[in-house]
Amino acid sequence: MCPRPYPSEQERIMVTSRLSGLKDLTVEERRDRIVANSPVEVEDLAVLDPADGLGVAEADHMVENVIGVLGIPVGVAANFTVNGRDVLVPMATEEPSVIAAASNAARIARSAGGFHTSSSGPVMRAQIQVIDVVDPNAAKMRLLQASDDLVAAANEVDPMLVSVGGGAIGIEVHLVEAAEQTYVVVHLIVDVRDAMGANAVNTMAEALAPQIAEIAQGRTLMRILSNKADLRLARASAVFPAAELGGEQVVDNIVHSAALADADPYRAATHNKGITNGITAVVLATGNDTRAVEAGLHSHAVRDGRYSSVSRFEKNRDGDLVASIEVPMAVGLVGGATKVHPVARLAVKMTGVTTASELAEIIVAAGLAQNLAALRALATEGIQQGHMSLHARNIAVAAGATTAEEIAAVATRMVEEKKVRQERAEEILAEVRRD
Ligand code: MEV
Repeated sequence: MCPRPYPSEQERIMVTSRLSGLKDLTVEERRDRIVANSPVEVEDLAVLDPADGLGVAEADHMVENVIGVLGIPVGVAANFTVNGRDVLVPMATEEPSVIAAASNAARIARSAGGFHTSSSGPVMRAQIQVIDVVDPNAAKMRLLQASDDLVAAANEVDPMLVSVGGGAIGIEVHLVEAAEQTYVVVHLIVDVRDAMGANAVNTMAEALAPQIAEIAQGRTLMRILSNKADLRLARASAVFPAAELGGEQVVDNIVHSAALADADPYRAATHNKGITNGITAVVLATGNDTRAVEAGLHSHAVRDGRYSSVSRFEKNRDGDLVASIEVPMAVGLVGGATKVHPVARLAVKMTGVTTASELAEIIVAAGLAQNLAALRALATEGIQQGHMSLHARNIAVAAGATTAEEIAAVATRMVEEKKVRQERAEEILAEVRRD
């Protein structure tokens, strides 16, 4: 792609995420909009082309036995306002409809002030399991008495983290009744600042293990972070005006559908999957650990002993829909793929965030937007209508359509006929080519 001119100073002041009609633009025109409306600069864009993105040589340093790289589409969700700031949200996903749906929901939320977010701080836990302790209750007391020493010892392991305002801040001692015996499990609580934190807390846990074994008079076994990151919660809420959603009946239908997810684990799993469509796409685009975040989300969904939804939908006094979400969000800005992967660096830059907590809050806002979009579709015309036209485009490509005209012609005919199938796509393509 040719480099575009820098946006003028005036254009930069006019930064907005309210970008309508992105889907009708060319890739190059969309990139122009990103440059004009985010901290991304023209020269950053090259990495978005496969030839200049993550190379095999870089990949070879990231994981083992590398033989190549996998391309996943990266798009941008428009229209997000988070705590009064417009933000363009990068999303990496193979699933059609996801980015358009998030943008659409963000547009509706925007008309009532956008998303309001908060977070509990970047605090993670590491667990150190002690086995063969003959007096678990007394061991717990001895460990709690030594907590200042243990915290100080943990902080000696990572002076860099301490120098940026983080570090170990406390310990908890849990007695876990298991099949074989009562385990003493020490939780080391660590403020990891802008890191995802796994490396920091795992190193501390391993370093403390001998001291903990001595105090508890047992043998330490597991020394690893917990992905149930319940001290690192990110929250978002937004009002979706009834008039924008399609009326009061739609609001009521969405409240009923969310109530089912709250009460029924079978529906909750699908409801939460819709949320992860948004969350995982941003986590992946920013080079963060999708599995850690999804493990955290599902552990939160079952925190009361029954698997449930992680979002809530209510009707306010004005008859509008109020949506809220709370999810553990262990994401970082430093370390790992976030710093190494060129596209992840660009994605983080696009958001304009300066802390991991800010990124976490944008991610849950994207999850909530995705959730609302799915519920709205399900509570009205059903999910297939919107899904089918994009799905039809994929089927058209799979059937061999190559140009934009061919893809559009084949997809449109299949949707009109309500026959979105590869054989039909091949027949229509042959007709289009004949004509
Ligand atoms: C599909 O990827 C996600 C949905 O199933 C979510 C939901 O049912 O809420 C549409």
